[in-house]
Amino acid sequence: MSLNTNTWNRLRYTLYLPIYDLIADRIFRKYRKRSVELLKAKPDDSILLLGAGTGLDLPYLQGYINLTAIDITPGMITKLQQRAEKLKIPVDARVMNGQQLEFEDNSFDAIVAHLILAVIPDPLTCIKEVERVLKPGGTVIVFDKFLPDGQRPTIVRRLFNQIANTLFSDINRSIGAIVSDTNLTIELNEPAALNGTFRLVRLRK
Ligand SMILES: C[S@@+](CC[C@H](N)C(=O)[O-])C[C@H]1O[C@@H](n2cnc3c(N)ncnc32)[C@H](O)[C@@H]1O
Repeated sequence: MSLNTNTWNRLRYTLYLPIYDLIADRIFRKYRKRSVELLKAKPDDSILLLGAGTGLDLPYLQGYINLTAIDITPGMITKLQQRAEKLKIPVDARVMNGQQLEFEDNSFDAIVAHLILAVIPDPLTCIKEVERVLKPGGTVIVFDKFLPDGQRPTIVRRLFNQIANTLFSDINRSIGAIVSDTNLTIELNEPAALNGTFRLVRLRK
């Protein structure tokens, strides 16, 4: 039985809120910047930030005028709105479940999925929602930690994952398996933080 549920995520990310930026800002800055470069979006493209957290990606999205951000944790969205105001970046920010997006089919040109596919309880449902709301030809940029495709986690890793998955994020997911039930194609998969444990992956619909 997994404790990784939406209710638990909402609770723990509310508790992590005061220290979240200390942990997730400095070490990932370089990759957030690179991710936006790889997205190759136009300034007026409609871009969805999925599981957007406190909005640590916003400093790299200055000049983009059609941003939407969703997260299941209300406190995260409040902090994101404050950051957006400070940076004078227009963002339509909403509390929403990434496994049940309240958007029409084909709504977005691009989707940014940073540190969410390894956290969300059901990444397969989430990626199908991503595929649904993305326009044909649209791009998804994923930044997260993944096992190499086809690699089976060791028993120690599976045991440790009981804790990791509950408190931080799942360490045994692979991007190939997550997208395998969609028509999204993996266009690029480059090593990022922690010697390539974290990856930057670009998907195309
Ligand atoms: C590790 S944080 C990443 C935040 C941000 N993307 C970043 O890069 O800093 C994971 C985020 O996913 C959110 N989350 C967890 N489950 C979710 C769900 N079902 N739908 C939307 N957001 C979710 C959490 O509230 C949290 O803000």
